[in-house]
Amino acid sequence: MCGIVGYVGREQAAPILLDGLSKLEYRGYDSAGVAVYSEKTGEMAVYKAKGRLKVLSDLIEGGAMVDGTVGIGHTRWATHGAPSDVNSHPQVSRSGRIAVVHNGIIENYAELKSFLMDQGVPFTSETDTEVVAQLIEYFCEQDQVDILEAVGRCLRRIEGAYALGILCADAPDQLIAVRKDSPLILGYGEGCSFLASDVTAIIRHTRSVSYMDDGEVAVLTREGIQCYNHLMQPIEKEICHVDWEIDAAEKGGYEHFMFKEIMEQPEAMRRCISPRIRDGEVFLENFPLSDDYIRNISKLYIVACGSSYHVGMVGKYNLERMIRKSVEVALASEFRYMNPIVDERTLVVVISQSGETLDTMAALREARRLGAKILSIVNVVGSSIARESDVVLYTWAGPEIAVATTKAYSTQMAALNLLGLYFARRLGTMDLAEYRRVLEEMLLLPEKMEAILSSKDDIQYFASQYFNHSSVFFIGRNVDYALGLEGSLKLKEISYIHSEAYASGELKHGTISLIEDGTLVVALGTYRKLFEKAMSNVVEVKARGADVLALTTESHREEMAKTANAVMTIPETHDLLLPSLGVVPLQLFAYYVALMRGCDIDKPRNLAKSVTVE
Ligand code: AGP
Repeated sequence: MCGIVGYVGREQAAPILLDGLSKLEYRGYDSAGVAVYSEKTGEMAVYKAKGRLKVLSDLIEGGAMVDGTVGIGHTRWATHGAPSDVNSHPQVSRSGRIAVVHNGIIENYAELKSFLMDQGVPFTSETDTEVVAQLIEYFCEQDQVDILEAVGRCLRRIEGAYALGILCADAPDQLIAVRKDSPLILGYGEGCSFLASDVTAIIRHTRSVSYMDDGEVAVLTREGIQCYNHLMQPIEKEICHVDWEIDAAEKGGYEHFMFKEIMEQPEAMRRCISPRIRDGEVFLENFPLSDDYIRNISKLYIVACGSSYHVGMVGKYNLERMIRKSVEVALASEFRYMNPIVDERTLVVVISQSGETLDTMAALREARRLGAKILSIVNVVGSSIARESDVVLYTWAGPEIAVATTKAYSTQMAALNLLGLYFARRLGTMDLAEYRRVLEEMLLLPEKMEAILSSKDDIQYFASQYFNHSSVFFIGRNVDYALGLEGSLKLKEISYIHSEAYASGELKHGTISLIEDGTLVVALGTYRKLFEKAMSNVVEVKARGADVLALTTESHREEMAKTANAVMTIPETHDLLLPSLGVVPLQLFAYYVALMRGCDIDKPRNLAKSVTVE
């Protein structure tokens, strides 16, 4: 949500900023802008445009018409004030000498705005961000301090979550970056420095980055970057090397990132699983939780949002079966308001692809306040959630760009299963032969996924049969129910078809009244133990006129085909791993349906990749 990029160097800044912003488009935005300082004119030029980045790029001829080697850029996701040219960032102070780009929300902006208006400061936008630009200028003028000191004074007055990039025409050889509860990365180049919301925006230029921590301020110049802590004392930051390839964040010939990422799943799974299974045992490198600690855990509490929460739902079924301890799952957005029962003996498992989801981060902090240990399953290395956790299991899925998560979901599930198996071994709650069988099957998941992907044309055909339905129900029991939640979310978020997931047994308690002639029901019947019950539910909805698209394992295809209108299958695997395979046809189905409906698959309306506001 919102994207920041900044550059100070010797090359023309505008094309670099536009390129960086294009890499942040996936985060979701409704307008874009840049501010660049020109040494020739001694002025700062600001260009902003509502709509896609292309509108801005056309306006400034791909950057060619903007002179200057220092600048900041932004893609905005409207929170305060509608999407419009004037509300886009950068927001500037009244003199036009200070420009600010901002991710997050300034919670006390109304109070500050009225204070500044009382001092005669005029406002032009409805944004909370303009307050920051105006307040910094107010301190520069009123207190006769330099820009860095004015920023420090501003930070003491503003409340909320923010990542800020600041450019001041009176100190034109530098950018100032600030972070609190919203990610910001610093990039170190030869004779240049960068700031960005995430690595994809700057990896073309540098692989040396550091991750700002809350309360830190950085001053970026051509010569390097000086960081300060919240007391404005100079600090040294660790510089990390980004080791993934640039094409990992490019489409590489695919029409959509989502499709590319679906197809990358076997490889992502290999990266996540293979190094963690050695000689028939789960191997978690540098895992700090002792056997005593694990034995003493009273319960696991999984917190997450969206698809990551759906992984947690599968985890509840799987982990309780493996470790025979209670596993609770909560939506992160609910967790901190529900007075959760959490103490020192609770292990809170936080799941997040981005590692920046604000609700998830808030849940993590609440859990920590209550005394729990935090283990996170995260994809983005160095993200805020990873850095605030006691233990991190990285999913190693590689950069995920499409808003609809696919390979991150699969690898999160693999990581969670590995964690369950690791615990089960220490707790002695799983039969050793079964434990080994699951591990063997886990190693086979990538090639079984490849087999499913190679039959994608069948799924495309089913999508062509059903893409014009206006409402869809996903039904299933046990892990098939949890899987249905994800299948349903995938479909609705990218195709805009109304869709709901139901535990099959709940149908007759209300929802079945919605089933009528031609209603599409996606019936999930992969879970062997409850296959007969899944069949009964298929009969039940068929009898009320539903069209049934079923998903089951190969051995049950024939029986399912006797009743369902169409059947998708997955290879046989251990029960605990069925959702790992079952999700792939559902992702493909959602993708092809959205494709046939002409939807903006990688950037669905109203959605952002990384949700950094509450
Ligand atoms: C799924 O396709 C989503 N776009 C969304 O539900 C996502 O899973 C959720 O916002 C959580 O994100 P996170 O994993 O980065 O925390």
